[in-house]
Amino acid sequence: MHRLRLSAAAPRFFAGLVPAAALGGCSGSQSALNPKSADAWSIGVQWWAMLGVGTIILIGVTVLLLIAAWRGRGRRERAGLSDTQAWLMVIFGGIVLPAFVIVGLVVSGLYIGSGADAGVTEPDLTIEVSGRRWWWEATYLDAAGDPVATTANEIHIPVDRRVRFLLRSDNVIHSFWVPNLQGKTDLVPGVVNETWLRAGETGVYRGQCAEFCGVQHAFMAFLVVVDSVADFDRWLRDQAAPAAAPETAAAVRGLQTFMRAGCDACHTIRGTGAQGELGPDLTHLASRRTLAAATMPNTTGHLGGWIADPQHVKPGNLMPSTIVEPERFRDLLAYLESLR
Ligand code: CUA
Repeated sequence: MHRLRLSAAAPRFFAGLVPAAALGGCSGSQSALNPKSADAWSIGVQWWAMLGVGTIILIGVTVLLLIAAWRGRGRRERAGLSDTQAWLMVIFGGIVLPAFVIVGLVVSGLYIGSGADAGVTEPDLTIEVSGRRWWWEATYLDAAGDPVATTANEIHIPVDRRVRFLLRSDNVIHSFWVPNLQGKTDLVPGVVNETWLRAGETGVYRGQCAEFCGVQHAFMAFLVVVDSVADFDRWLRDQAAPAAAPETAAAVRGLQTFMRAGCDACHTIRGTGAQGELGPDLTHLASRRTLAAATMPNTTGHLGGWIADPQHVKPGNLMPSTIVEPERFRDLLAYLESLR
């Protein structure tokens, strides 16, 4: 028989854990409590207001409950309030006050929700985002609405610019959520939804699909990289360029392996014969920080493991395993890592 034993340090451990867990939500790159835009700030204020009102109500109800229990102890007959007082208590405490609080929170929530996207008609930049299974495709549009560059799972935006996102899906419903910058907006098949980001600070923020969309929903993440305007312009120029021609012998063979193994059926590498549209555009794969929709860091080891056995990393995803001879596999990795 095993017994649960808590050491003497346990109370201290838990006493430290609770505030740490609570405050952990107030920092971090995926937290609505660490707002980095005016819209996220309004949402944060609403969150704290709801927490405050909820806490006051909880304390009030608990105190009334304790008073009732204390006064009523050991008695069988009704005691305490007169009939009028009891009715007033029910009408004000049970109807008027809750109605006031609920209506207040709903109205302020609707106001903040509608205000988040309102008042902006002229974007500084438009990005079309498609929810795929289970990753994000981002296409940057020029002023005329023509595509400039396509990338996946890592969306760069310039700081302090009004960026409009056109959200599409050709499969199921997803939800675009970057808690530090904005509330959620769904990607609904057959509809183009809009959301706006205007980041107040440079940094890397994590976004997450917020609508259950299948087995890999939890691993349908992405990064929003907020760059200075100059860094962003440079980044977009690089992304718009076709892939550099392979320079080393290994990379040349790697491109051949890419085509021979059939990777081009699903992936596009602009500037080569690979024009597939099912999977992410790999033209500048090596410039991205993560692989497989922000599931893991973009390193040689992870890239190799992902290509050899993607079902191990993200079971149910649409990418098949690529089995080639070890030397050709190394060539393939050398080529993909040259796609800066
Ligand atoms: Cu896409 Cu959940």
